[in-house]
Amino acid sequence: MALLDVSDLTVTFQTNDGPVNAVNGLSFDVAEKETLAIVGESGSGKSQTAFAIMGLLAKNGGATGRVEFDGADLLSLSKRQLNKVRSNQIGMIFQDPMTSLNPYIRVSDQMAEVLQLHKGLSKRDAIAEAVQMLDAVRIPDAKARISMFPHEFSGGMRQRIMIAMALLCRPRLLIADEPTTALDVTVQAQIMKLLGEIREEFNTAVILITHDLGIVADFCDRTLVLYGGQIMEEGPTGDVFADPAHPYTKGLLKAVPRLDRDTETLQTIAGEPPDMSHLPAGCPFSPRCEIARDYCSTRPLVLEPLGDNRTRACHASLAEMKQEMQDG
Ligand SMILES: Nc1ncnc2c1ncn2[C@@H]1O[C@H](COP(=O)(O)OP(=O)(O)O)[C@@H](O)[C@H]1O
Ligand SMILES: [Mg+2]
Repeated sequence: MALLDVSDLTVTFQTNDGPVNAVNGLSFDVAEKETLAIVGESGSGKSQTAFAIMGLLAKNGGATGRVEFDGADLLSLSKRQLNKVRSNQIGMIFQDPMTSLNPYIRVSDQMAEVLQLHKGLSKRDAIAEAVQMLDAVRIPDAKARISMFPHEFSGGMRQRIMIAMALLCRPRLLIADEPTTALDVTVQAQIMKLLGEIREEFNTAVILITHDLGIVADFCDRTLVLYGGQIMEEGPTGDVFADPAHPYTKGLLKAVPRLDRDTETLQTIAGEPPDMSHLPAGCPFSPRCEIARDYCSTRPLVLEPLGDNRTRACHASLAEMKQEMQDG
């Protein structure tokens, strides 16, 4: 059984322009200790997928479908039950550490509070455990620095503290939403290395959400490519990267800097990211797709198995796609 089993997840926001589907019938699962990447340009529904799983959607949003975690449907739990799962079993880290850290409260107090509340530890034991966790995320001199305020740390160190916070209750699933986007490249690499080590050390499954395919390749077992709130393709990361099965994935990959290619050949995908309030009835990517047929924008998209644990949703066959796209 999968640790997380999401089926037909749809997230709808009520807006002045009417309902907007940010996520549209999404199905995927994550096994124990597995790492899944959810990739796609900004606005494709990545964060709202995570928020729906965590029960953290904005007030004007609602989710339908099923989000089974360890057999229980999170969408139908009471607030109280959900809170329990959320604080003990699923940890979340964000692009901006200040979304989970209060700048005016000492790190020691913030971390201890979590452990006192959810694990019933005494303050003294809670702080001792928090120091251990800061050691685990390689914060030098954690014992002394734990009594500092979040704003006294550098961006990279704050990110480490947030990761430590998310790990305090030893979650079985860690959802990392663009965890390194705001950091410079060197710090980015350090944080990804840390996440890799943490994953091994704590045996957690990870969902890594990112628009940057460059950081996915080494880190994730499987990759799910999202566009307009729908899956374009999904499969083992190595296979998706080596042999993309969707025109959108091909476009995304062309935009990834590689050592063996000079940066001048980097391309971005032409056209604008989709306007979620006016999506075509068919394939959401069709307006930007270089091999789109006239029926692509109207014929509903179906996710089809491709063999080798892969799926794709495209009206062109794989053979047609390869033939028609300029560079295979
Ligand atoms: N509170 C909201 N009300 C209306 N639309 C929203 C709201 N929050 C997010 N959206 C829309 O949902 C879509 C997907 O957003 P999101 O999942 O945050 O994208 P990303 O892939 O960049 O993380 C966007 O088009 C965004 O405008
Ligand atoms: Mg996002």
